Amino acid sequence: MMLNEAQAEHSARARSHLKDQIAAAGGWLSFEQFMESALYAPGLGYYSGGAQKLGEGGDFTTAPEISSLFGRCVALQCAQVLRALHGGTLQSPHAGSILEIGAGSGRLAADILMRLEELGQLPKNYWILEVSADLRERQRALLCALLAERLPHVLQRVGWLDRPPEEPYDGIVLANEVLDALPVARFRWRASGVDELGVGIDDGDFAWVARPANQAMAQACRRLYDASGGWDDGYISEYCPRAPAWTRAVTKLLRTGAVLWIDYGLPRAEYYLPERHDGTLACHYRHRMSSDPFVNVGLQDITAWVDFTLIAEASREAGFELAGFTTQAHFLAGVGIDREMRLAAGDDENRFARLANQARQLMLPGEMGERFKAMVWLRGLDMPLSGFELLDLRHKL
Ligand SMILES: C[S@@+](CC[C@H](N)C(=O)[O-])C[C@H]1O[C@@H](n2cnc3c(N)ncnc32)[C@H](O)[C@@H]1O
Repeated sequence: MMLNEAQAEHSARARSHLKDQIAAAGGWLSFEQFMESALYAPGLGYYSGGAQKLGEGGDFTTAPEISSLFGRCVALQCAQVLRALHGGTLQSPHAGSILEIGAGSGRLAADILMRLEELGQLPKNYWILEVSADLRERQRALLCALLAERLPHVLQRVGWLDRPPEEPYDGIVLANEVLDALPVARFRWRASGVDELGVGIDDGDFAWVARPANQAMAQACRRLYDASGGWDDGYISEYCPRAPAWTRAVTKLLRTGAVLWIDYGLPRAEYYLPERHDGTLACHYRHRMSSDPFVNVGLQDITAWVDFTLIAEASREAGFELAGFTTQAHFLAGVGIDREMRLAAGDDENRFARLANQARQLMLPGEMGERFKAMVWLRGLDMPLSGFELLDLRHKL
């Protein structure tokens, strides 16, 4: 795809920054470091640059961009937790807070807040933890446009954080499509030893370069190998070494409440199937997907599927109870997407038809319904959650 002058210039600067980093590291950079810089290097990384990322004019579309039904359903699940925190009484002055990580365009935050307002169950605070300065501004603009005039008391509860809360709080942590953006390490399995795949320079361009893996990576791969039922020589995949520490850090001071992760991913045994022998890297640029992280550097999103078994293990390490794991379709059906569709459409049959079409995109197995999973952790609460009652997949983790 042709780049315009500004895009080509941005990508050239991002490439040059990465080449400098590779040279400074002696000619080889781990893929985890490469992905971190390509996504987050100040002013150069994908999430640090200024281009539109989500929606029609962006690079990819997420569930909240497809339909407000998604946010309405997440709101219902939040309402159930907030009610439990209040001991069953609505409008408690000690209402819990919501922390949304990686809020994208701000669409999900807006839909959740507007639905909670209708339910009379606004959280005390709605914090957004966002790494991208540009997306923060887009979130602020969208939330102001939707709430400032009509619902100023709702907007007052919204605030942006540079780091996770530093005081204990009760409530909910939630993130949609954020875990997949955490940088991953890439490996190649050989019976004689594991290689780490990093990035070097060949003929002036980025190239995969293998090195013997260190002991930590070799042990991690051995565990994955055992869970998978075995791979042939040359099997390539990735894993996310930082996911446990990152999830612990962002949920650390949640005293009582729930953590809701929604993302595309699989339980470990399915993630590392022998036939998936080239990993799950997925790069997105202008609604085209590729598995090549070395093109459109700084302009394209780089993601990997989530190993939900790793996230489940992290919940235990962080002192949470793993309270649910299901598909996005079953989550949405469980919280009552059908009812929400009726409510949102009112008597407008055309609107109902549009919403029904959007619900199909969110729920059909060939669309987002099965690829995406929802996982919930609880701390200090013991309750069934409606989104996780229809299908319990925890035994697969
Ligand atoms: C794929 S977008 C999803 C946006 C939104 N949740 C949605 O569903 O539309 C990823 C979001 O996570 C943010 N992000 C990526 N890595 C992050 C991190 N380590 N901490 C906080 N936010 C992050 C990005 O800037 C972006 O807002």
